[in-house]
Amino acid sequence: MVLLLLAYCLTAAALTGAQHAPRQNAPSPRHRLSPLDGSIIALPTADQLAFQDREMGILIHFEIATYLAIDGCNGVPGLVPAPALFDPTLLDTDQWMASIAASGARYATLVAKHNCGFTTWPSQVSFKTRDNTTSGYNYSVADSPVKGVDVPGMFSASAEKAGLGHGFYYSTVVNNFLNVQNSLVNATWAPGEIRISNETYDEIVIAQLTELWTNYGELTELWFDGGYSASQQAKITQLLQEHQPHACIFNSCDAAGTACLSPNSIRWIGTEDGLPNEEIWSTGVTNDGGSPTSPFFAPAECDTTLQAGIRWFWAAGQPLRPLSEMIEVYHQTVGRNCLLELDLAPDRSGLVPAAHAARYKALGDFLRACYGPGSAVGGTAANTTTTGVSVALAFEVPTAVDRVVIMEDQTQGQVIRAYEVWARVVDASGANGTLNVPLKLVSRGSSVGHKRIDLFAAPILVTEVVVNATKFVDTPVWRSVTVHLCDGLA
Ligand SMILES: *[C@@H]1O[C@H](CO)[C@@H](O)[C@H](O)[C@H]1NC(C)=O
Ligand SMILES: *[C@@H]1O[C@H](CO)[C@@H](O)[C@H](O)[C@H]1NC(C)=O
Ligand SMILES: *[C@@H]1O[C@H](CO)[C@@H](O)[C@H](O)[C@H]1NC(C)=O
Ligand SMILES: *[C@@H]1O[C@H](CO)[C@@H](O)[C@H](O)[C@H]1NC(C)=O
Ligand SMILES: *[C@@H]1O[C@H](CO)[C@@H](O)[C@H](O)[C@H]1NC(C)=O
Ligand SMILES: *[C@@H]1O[C@H](CO)[C@@H](O)[C@H](O)[C@H]1NC(C)=O
Ligand SMILES: *[C@@H]1O[C@H](CO)[C@@H](O)[C@H](O)[C@H]1NC(C)=O
Repeated sequence: MVLLLLAYCLTAAALTGAQHAPRQNAPSPRHRLSPLDGSIIALPTADQLAFQDREMGILIHFEIATYLAIDGCNGVPGLVPAPALFDPTLLDTDQWMASIAASGARYATLVAKHNCGFTTWPSQVSFKTRDNTTSGYNYSVADSPVKGVDVPGMFSASAEKAGLGHGFYYSTVVNNFLNVQNSLVNATWAPGEIRISNETYDEIVIAQLTELWTNYGELTELWFDGGYSASQQAKITQLLQEHQPHACIFNSCDAAGTACLSPNSIRWIGTEDGLPNEEIWSTGVTNDGGSPTSPFFAPAECDTTLQAGIRWFWAAGQPLRPLSEMIEVYHQTVGRNCLLELDLAPDRSGLVPAAHAARYKALGDFLRACYGPGSAVGGTAANTTTTGVSVALAFEVPTAVDRVVIMEDQTQGQVIRAYEVWARVVDASGANGTLNVPLKLVSRGSSVGHKRIDLFAAPILVTEVVVNATKFVDTPVWRSVTVHLCDGLA
């Protein structure tokens, strides 16, 4: 991570000049027309819906940059750290999974190659240099003190054992080892540096993606930090269809929507602090809250760090963000229809540090207590009446609640465009419980999508809660409406 914004712009620039029609081979989005007003309703794939159901994942930063003081090789083109640095003597990917599961995450995406160019698997790719010699990719774990280890292999086995989805991050736009920035080989080489052509670079990318996508099982998510270049697009698209048609693809589409790698597209929310603070639609291709009228169903993913200062790789003594801030991150992401992807930074021994593990678990403990099975006040099958537009929950006695969780069934697209939450609020003595107090507006918003969580300023005592869709382009299909009381849990 880190160079996303910069490189994304460059990707867009590389595509400028292309016709503003879908490229040959670019998957086109599916949509239907609203029976109410004829507007476009983008349709999801089953893989996208299953991915949104995972709600929260982990992005693991662990490779040679873990052994640097700076946060990766980004923006330092000449830096090719010696492979001898990579020496995780206690590497234990099951220990990583313990923290991932404890946090409440349901998938993990591993950085398999970041911008230094080091691959944490023993890549077997060989290629022709400009002087017509054949070279192996001698900048991998096989050139390090832990030769024989295959980090993606260990990671994949551990994730499968833990019942978590797994996938890979492979940066296609930067590779210091091969003297590549912005997907282009710089023709000024330092002495001893491997000299390749631009065409050979693209071949190496495809060959290494093929290794990653064919040797480690069915992958949940694939990450293109900074996107991909126009010259790589068609081949990557084809490779995905061949080997990983079910994977969801981060940064799949360019901002104009003229090229997407897959119908299983996921977009970036545009910030790395995990606090986007906006309405977030499941549709759109721009790096923000998206657009309800876009023909592209491409849910947003909100990636952020546990270490303070948006630090992705482990750093000695780096403070962690407090639990209260991580809970706020959860509510601004998962609670606003964004997939939350939280960084995990194993240290130089190859383990998640104890303080990090404790913070992931504290977050998961809060999420399980507040939102987990059995947490809904009145039970999930509370006395619910659904009339299409409206869902009403009735309580026999005045009941304390401090938030509402609303889920929309998006199988036929995201159709609710605005909603209101009303409640019959009685006083603490319960005296008003016998009175038919009028409904009072307690929250409102626009996007619901996979999930929407609205927090009330303080707990209220209610006898009824009504959620109404006030704008919609087809009859709303509610997946669930529940109320919770989490005040005092964290
Ligand atoms: C490499 O091979 C190509 C094609 O066979 C040839 O055109 C080129 O001159 C060779 N380059 C060197 C440095 O020998
Ligand atoms: C890779 O091999 C080349 C050619 O043998 C050598 O010059 C270079 O130093 C090696 N690179 C690394 C990182 O070991
Ligand atoms: C190529 O590398 C040289 C030497 O490091 C540097 O001065 C130059 O700016 C680079 N060119 C590009 C386009 O990045
Ligand atoms: C790669 O392409 C870029 C842009 O056309 C060019 O500036 C660069 O010199 C090329 N690299 C090599 C090694 O030919
Ligand atoms: C549940 O709904 C039924 C029918 O609307 C009603 O008769 C009953 O009193 C309700 N129960 C509660 C707990 O509100
Ligand atoms: C309860 O009823 C009393 C008397 O009608 C009213 O003054 C008070 O505001 C009500 N409390 C709530 C929470 O609605
Ligand atoms: C909610 O919607 C229903 C159905 O349109 C309507 O009868 C009811 O008055 C609405 N309730 C509120 C509080 O807006």
